[in-house]
Amino acid sequence: MARLAGKIAVITGAGIGIGQAIAKRFAVEGAHVYVTDINGETAADTARAITAAGGAATPMLVDVSKGQDVTALIRAIETAHGKADILVNNAGILIRGEVRSLSDADWTKLREVNIDGVLRLSRDALSLLKKSSSASIINISSIMANRGLRPLAAYTATKGAVTALTKGLAVEYAPFNIRVNAISPGYIETAITDRLLKLPPVRKALVDKTPMGRLGLPDDITGAAMFFASDDSLYCTGSDLAVDGGMSAGL
Ligand SMILES: NC(=O)c1ccc[n+]([C@@H]2O[C@H](COP(=O)([O-])OP(=O)(O)OC[C@H]3O[C@@H](n4cnc5c(N)ncnc54)[C@H](O)[C@@H]3O)[C@@H](O)[C@H]2O)c1
Repeated sequence: MARLAGKIAVITGAGIGIGQAIAKRFAVEGAHVYVTDINGETAADTARAITAAGGAATPMLVDVSKGQDVTALIRAIETAHGKADILVNNAGILIRGEVRSLSDADWTKLREVNIDGVLRLSRDALSLLKKSSSASIINISSIMANRGLRPLAAYTATKGAVTALTKGLAVEYAPFNIRVNAISPGYIETAITDRLLKLPPVRKALVDKTPMGRLGLPDDITGAAMFFASDDSLYCTGSDLAVDGGMSAGL
């Protein structure tokens, strides 16, 4: 049964990685997916793969840190569908470095994509989400949102903001019947973690710290995304679900 039939889903940073896996899963479940990414080529490739498999997808180049890109996205969906049901704020970047040597430019970049992007999409999509009978915003945070991790204090601070924003928006948007929840992945094998996970001792240490004995794959996140996107989570807002093979339970 197509659990997302008739739903319009917007996913940011959906050209590769976790966002791509969620886009493909939502399309299989019957949603029309707006595959958005700062990289127009990967967005188009993902949308092509979805349509080739029989799904519905529209690719769009959207840099979440640019107001005009987000405005164009919202206008396009308004014109084509008049509503949106699901927004996945997935786009994120990681810049490594100790805070004491972090440049203003790096901090600004991290903040503009990881925090401002989530706030902007959640604000600007409100008019479309209000027209849904059952709307859901899903923010991709991190299990490191409330932990110290060297040399990633600035990155984890942006994820802490995403988790806080999730709770604040859950309260603010509940009267509009819009649910807002977060998914906090553990270590997932994507481009963001590629360099780190290629170091055999680091990889081994992280696997050892994961009770389930393996690192995650992008597809491991899609079940949680389906839960929050579908009516299975109708009475659920402001929650933050760790999908990490048990890592945070043992930290
Ligand atoms: N991989 C992990 O272990 C892990 C763990 C916790 C949280 N996360 C979070 O999951 C999300 C997805 O990460 P991923 O691991 O799939 O990384 P990824 O690098 O594979 O994918 C990120 C995607 O976001 C896009 N993007 C970057 N900046 C953008 C911008 N300004 N506007 C629009 N799109 C932009 C990239 O082009 C890319 O397609 C991120 O928010 C990340 O912080 C990942």
